[in-house]
Amino acid sequence: MTGVAEGIGQVLFTAEAIQTRVRELGQAISADYAGKDLLLVTILRGGIFFLVDLARAINIPLAIDLMAISSYGPGADKQGVVRIVKDLEEPIGARHVLVVEDVIDTGLTMSSLLRHLAPREPASLKVCVLLDKPAHRIASLPIAYRGFECPDVFVVGYGLDYRQHYRNLPDLAVLKTGSR
Ligand code: IMP
Ligand code: MG
Repeated sequence: MTGVAEGIGQVLFTAEAIQTRVRELGQAISADYAGKDLLLVTILRGGIFFLVDLARAINIPLAIDLMAISSYGPGADKQGVVRIVKDLEEPIGARHVLVVEDVIDTGLTMSSLLRHLAPREPASLKVCVLLDKPAHRIASLPIAYRGFECPDVFVVGYGLDYRQHYRNLPDLAVLKTGSR
């Protein structure tokens, strides 16, 4: 029987490169949101690694909150629509909300999430993503802060998983698949 063995391939962004970029993003966000009521919103689970580093690179007051979502499977007419499994604890009306996400691929997840949040009338609603994978973008959406543009490969590490594994890798690396 043929199976698939996966492993870690090429490192795209090292832990050091990630930390350098996160510091730059933190400085930009600190300047842009100075004097504003900033709330960082992250989606469980992949985004939390990026969130905790980014939050510590921001030197203005901020609050954090977490959401969990699940997507409807492919094929259904609800493809690209997310269901909120765990909602925010914080009210976001009149606050400056920055959604912090690990990766945007098709953009369907993020655009659906933004459609959930926008009716709550935040003062502003923007996106900060670590990895922007534009190759398969279906839903175009504005990205205010981008860590890295990423080629069309499946990436693991620094929060990103393959079947719940590899989140704890310090680097961002290509997932290698091979037959055995
Ligand atoms: P979307 O295609 O932009 O809706 O992305 C949906 C989700 O797919 C992301 O939030 C990730 O959980 C996952 N995803 C997309 N690309 C990758 C990848 O390269 N590695 C790990 N997860 C990914
Ligand atoms: Mg995700």
